[in-house]
Amino acid sequence: MADIHVALLGFGTVGKGVYETIKAHQSRLRAILGKNVKVAGILVRNIEKHTLPEDDILLTSNFEDILNLPKLDVVIEAIVGREPGFSYLKKSIERGCHIITANKEMFAYHGNELLELASQKNVACGFEATVAGGIPAIQTLRTLLNVNKIERIEGIVNGTSNYILTKMREDGVAFQEALQAAQEKGYAEEDPTNDIEGYDAFYKAMVLSQIAFGEQPEWQTVRRKGISSVSNSEIGLFSEWGLRVKHVISLEKGVRGLSCSVKPVLVGPSHPLYSVEGVQNAVSIDADIVGNITLQGPGAGKFPTASAIVEDLIQLNVNHGCYYEQEKNVRFKKDLHHDWVVL
Ligand code: HSE
Repeated sequence: MADIHVALLGFGTVGKGVYETIKAHQSRLRAILGKNVKVAGILVRNIEKHTLPEDDILLTSNFEDILNLPKLDVVIEAIVGREPGFSYLKKSIERGCHIITANKEMFAYHGNELLELASQKNVACGFEATVAGGIPAIQTLRTLLNVNKIERIEGIVNGTSNYILTKMREDGVAFQEALQAAQEKGYAEEDPTNDIEGYDAFYKAMVLSQIAFGEQPEWQTVRRKGISSVSNSEIGLFSEWGLRVKHVISLEKGVRGLSCSVKPVLVGPSHPLYSVEGVQNAVSIDADIVGNITLQGPGAGKFPTASAIVEDLIQLNVNHGCYYEQEKNVRFKKDLHHDWVVL
């Protein structure tokens, strides 16, 4: 029986989760795909920090070694930041490999280019894991778009922020302590700036926007604010009023065009995001025919993200295509002012 040869770029929380999931569920994958999935190579920054999970896997810090693997079908990227992930994936496509990424920052910037290149080379590009961890948000949007027009998306898409806000409210712990707990659980990035300042949620909003509306808003028009300045006293006071602080992305396409905001807001008990707690994420979609669909599930962590990546691995063996239409080469502003809003 032929194998599907896979390389992992990055062997942190997500890379390890993918590796362990493939190992643990090999017979399930074989039943679905009719092939074994074989991890042929793993790219790490520092070889000394890692032990080889199996003897016949290439462990390297040189991407060229991965590209030169004699058999390579799928390259899975779980590195942080725009580079080197983008260059590695471009080279992988040029070699004729399918690609899967969990890298939201890179994909918000370069998704169009990768999808176009993948389409030209007739390979697939999976990116379900870029948004909302284990929730199949991209897949759901694609399915809805077969017949619906998407009008609005609202969501909690950063697990770290939601975990911190929940811990501050429920346990009364200070921001730093809650952040440290999120890091220990593998929810936050190594450098948590993107999580707590709203950039991570912003990138995810851009990926969702591209799929739902075929375009991204001009980045500098987006109000982006994280949760780093939210205090325990504010959370306590709002709690007494029956309100919860949530970090929410909102995307809407109306007669005046596409609008987007990424910021902490107040939600009341009747709002669908009120009960989304801890590391849970939620994506609430308003579409013209079906009405509202709200998906909720684990938004970060080893196995939820691995689940999304392995879903892509299955999907790309069934079907692949190009969903992006255009790329926006824009930047965003760091110093936006914030007003509290009750949803
Ligand atoms: N740091 C991210 C989060 C990981 O907390 O949501 C999942 O993208």
